[in-house]
Amino acid sequence: MIIGTNGSGKSTILDALTFSLFNKPFRKINKPQLINTVNEKDCVVEVEFSIKGKEYKIVRGLKPAKFEVWVDGEVQDQDASANDQQKKLEQNILKLNFKSFTQIVILGSSTFVPFMQLPSAHRREVIEDLLDIKIFSSMNSLIKDKIRAIRDDVRTLELKRDSVKDKLKMQREFIEQIERSSKNDIAEKKDQIKIIASEANLYLCDNTKLVEEIDDIERVNIKWEPTTKNKLNNLRVKINNKKENTNREISFFEKNTVCPTCTQDIEEEFRLNRIENLNSSIEELDGGLSDLDSKINNENLKESQYNKLSQEVSTLNNEVSKNTIRVSGLQRQCRDLESEIQRITDQLANRNSEHEKLNEFNETLQGTYEDLATKTESIKNHDFAYSLLKDGGVKTKIIKQYLPLINKQVNRYLQMMDFFINFTLDEEFNETVQSPIHDNFSYASFSEGEKMRIDLALLFTWREVAAFKNSISTNLLIMDEVFDSSLDGLGTEEFLKIIRYVIKGANVFIISHKESLFDKFENVLRFEKVKGFSRKAP
Ligand SMILES: Nc1ncnc2c1ncn2[C@@H]1O[C@H](COP(=O)(O)OP(=O)(O)O)[C@@H](O)[C@H]1O
Ligand SMILES: [Mg+2]
Repeated sequence: MIIGTNGSGKSTILDALTFSLFNKPFRKINKPQLINTVNEKDCVVEVEFSIKGKEYKIVRGLKPAKFEVWVDGEVQDQDASANDQQKKLEQNILKLNFKSFTQIVILGSSTFVPFMQLPSAHRREVIEDLLDIKIFSSMNSLIKDKIRAIRDDVRTLELKRDSVKDKLKMQREFIEQIERSSKNDIAEKKDQIKIIASEANLYLCDNTKLVEEIDDIERVNIKWEPTTKNKLNNLRVKINNKKENTNREISFFEKNTVCPTCTQDIEEEFRLNRIENLNSSIEELDGGLSDLDSKINNENLKESQYNKLSQEVSTLNNEVSKNTIRVSGLQRQCRDLESEIQRITDQLANRNSEHEKLNEFNETLQGTYEDLATKTESIKNHDFAYSLLKDGGVKTKIIKQYLPLINKQVNRYLQMMDFFINFTLDEEFNETVQSPIHDNFSYASFSEGEKMRIDLALLFTWREVAAFKNSISTNLLIMDEVFDSSLDGLGTEEFLKIIRYVIKGANVFIISHKESLFDKFENVLRFEKVKGFSRKAP
């Protein structure tokens, strides 16, 4: 028994112990707070224990830092890092970690509330902690978050799918519309070409007729040239000149009988002969002139006819060339329309980019569907995992496996304490109590002493389950003021009975401030604090 007044430093032993073995205080304080504030240095803990015949000593200190592991009087590899040494100590020597140690070896008043006084949710926590299945609760909440995240992804993907579907539809319609309007355009242009071609054809037919007309005219038209007319006119002028000269000579011979130049007489016979000859010459010339005039007249007639027909031909030719110009204009229009049709056709054939876009949308949609399928599958899997991990799932299955063991142990301890009731915990950690005299009893109905027995039975059971679960065996048990409040009168006797007979072969350290227990233990360690330092009282 460790006894002492409040604040004498009893509970500090627990801090010292866990600090020495696990480099961590038992209470929720940090390591520097372990160092005594009076001298502020030289904090050292030495723990000696034996396991399977080997003697161990752990020395750990702060200010200066120190960590030594002694086995059978020999200090162990000091060259190894403190971390490695600590690992070795926990895994190879103690075979216990901080968590199991504080669950199995130490029962602290500050951490201990009787199980039956906890609400059901906290009972579940204790059991889950004990059975090391809290991990499933953490996994469960992780999975919940994951499912939520995947559902968000699914929603995003669904939005994407809908928008790509819309885009795809619009693109398809756009392509169809372009094709339709292009085809209409081409048809329209082909119609236009037909109209223009038939118009051109009309002009061409017209020209054929005109050419025929021209041919007809040219066939009837005489070849006329002004040379003949000119020659005739020249001849006329010459004949007229000759006639004038002849007339002048006639009038000379009629007026003159004497030569005015040489004054010689002109022989009358000669003169009359001459006049006669000249007059017959005149007659001849006149005959020639009238002949010539009729020829000229004829020529003039020919000319005017020729001119008239030539005029007609040139008018017709004019008409032909006008038509030709019209036709070539229309042909140009046709060519323009044809190249326009070609352009539209080419454009239609080269609408690759639009089709590429369409394919792209199709691929994206396909991908989105695949992603959605993957996500949906993933949700299904996570949902399944979730159903395994929630309270009714794997955890309950594990708890169910342990419940018979727990109930058996609790009842075994109760019997050891001469408390003959049948105590059962169900999956929800609610108790049922049956006994020959009590039916439908519950924890609350019992006296404080009886409650304490149930509490202890549960406590030892937890210890046993934890030990079993972690394959731990230890004979050390430290209870720090765990039952001080219920240890009065009858309770004390019961408690001591349990300690003596129930936990046989264990090294039990009871920390208490109850003076009444003082003479009930084979070893008593009294604590006192002097000038800020705790020590064993003399
Ligand atoms: N670092 C420290 N330096 C000096 N005194 C401390 C330090 N930490 C705690 N104390 C004091 O030491 C005492 C230890 O109390 P505790 O071990 O809980 O006593 P008990 O369990 O015997 O009632 C308390 O009075 C506390 O104020
Ligand atoms: Mg204390």
